Amino acid sequence: TRVLVLNGPNLSRLGTREPDVYGATTYDELVGICTAEGAALGLEVEVRQTDDEAELVHWLHEAADTSTPVVLNPAAFTHYSYAVRDAIALRTAPLVEVHLSNPAAREEFRHTSVVAAVATGTIAGFGVDSYRLALRALAAS
Ligand code: DQA
Repeated sequence: TRVLVLNGPNLSRLGTREPDVYGATTYDELVGICTAEGAALGLEVEVRQTDDEAELVHWLHEAADTSTPVVLNPAAFTHYSYAVRDAIALRTAPLVEVHLSNPAAREEFRHTSVVAAVATGTIAGFGVDSYRLALRALAAS
């Protein structure tokens, strides 16, 4: 099974971006971790990142058109993008919302996820293991 792992704004900066919050793993390492975990689970994983809301919406349309399961870290879009929320709502295959940090334990504005209600489920707070766990959830679904 093919799986898309989609990452929103600023996640390309992993490794140097607020490492106390997001950890020391670089974005390239995250790509390798997701690809390897997927291979171990029998999934063909493709990892992408964009800072552009329109591009993320288009990728979600592509996933919907091809019934491809998705692991999505919407990053800051989580908290305010109704366009991303609506693009998630129109698909049918499973979609797992992931976060490296636990937004519920952080600033007030991060406590709201406008996408959580349309995701299949959410995994947050386990660093890069959030992605591993999400891939496991998709492999089991
Ligand atoms: C994040 C949490 C968001 O609040 C933040 O805007 C991010 C990353 C996470 O993975 O912990 O960019 O989605």
